[in-house]
Amino acid sequence: MTIRLAPSILAADFAKLGDAVAAAERGGADLVHVDVMDGHFVPNLTVGPPVVRSLKRVARVPLDVHLMITDPDRYAEAFVEAGASMLSVHVEVLPHLNRTLTFIKGLGARAGVAINPSTPLVMLEEVAADVDHVLVMSVNPGFGGQAFLPRSASKIRALRAMLDRAGNPAPIEVDGGIDLDTVGEVVTAGAEILVAGSAVFGAPDIAAAARALRAAAEQAAAARDEEASRR
Ligand code: DX5
Ligand code: ZN
Repeated sequence: MTIRLAPSILAADFAKLGDAVAAAERGGADLVHVDVMDGHFVPNLTVGPPVVRSLKRVARVPLDVHLMITDPDRYAEAFVEAGASMLSVHVEVLPHLNRTLTFIKGLGARAGVAINPSTPLVMLEEVAADVDHVLVMSVNPGFGGQAFLPRSASKIRALRAMLDRAGNPAPIEVDGGIDLDTVGEVVTAGAEILVAGSAVFGAPDIAAAARALRAAAEQAAAARDEEASRR
């Protein structure tokens, strides 16, 4: 499995975003995770395409944009145009998910589906062959710094099995409460893209925190690969 660390700028100092991203990159960040909130789908407001555009100018790694908004069809194009390489849309707000995924792919971005903790995996069954990645929320979206919901690990395991059944090697991304205490169990369960806000940008040394988290994830991934090769 290929581990990718995606630090979430939600926990960064917005007055120093460029510096924060550079520090995370020095620590081995593979992506920069941008949380977009509209005050409707989630009870919080964050940033829009202008901030993505500015980040695109300074980031050396791809931008992973997580749309926590009620009308992603309306705004997807603006985010891809601004520089999003990966776009995640929530299954809870999309009655025509295939159409949305096709639309995002047509814009030239990787199309992913995000799923809330209380939404059952069966909601993804019919699109399992079509997703470029799946983002499993391991907290209720809206805020950084919340505690990891333990049930998320078994959900990741079941999702990996679902994607494998569909013949889709798409990676699973996990988002919420990921830190040195929780990263091992989500990687063991099958997560490959690890979003972390407070654990990276809330640390006094951003690069060191990213490096430590990535190392812990790599260790769990190596153990998982070894276990799989013995089977
Ligand atoms: C939550 C966001 C997350 C958040 C994670 O709604 O989607 O990306 O920034 O923050 P931590 O890592 O602090 O839980
Ligand atoms: Zn997120």
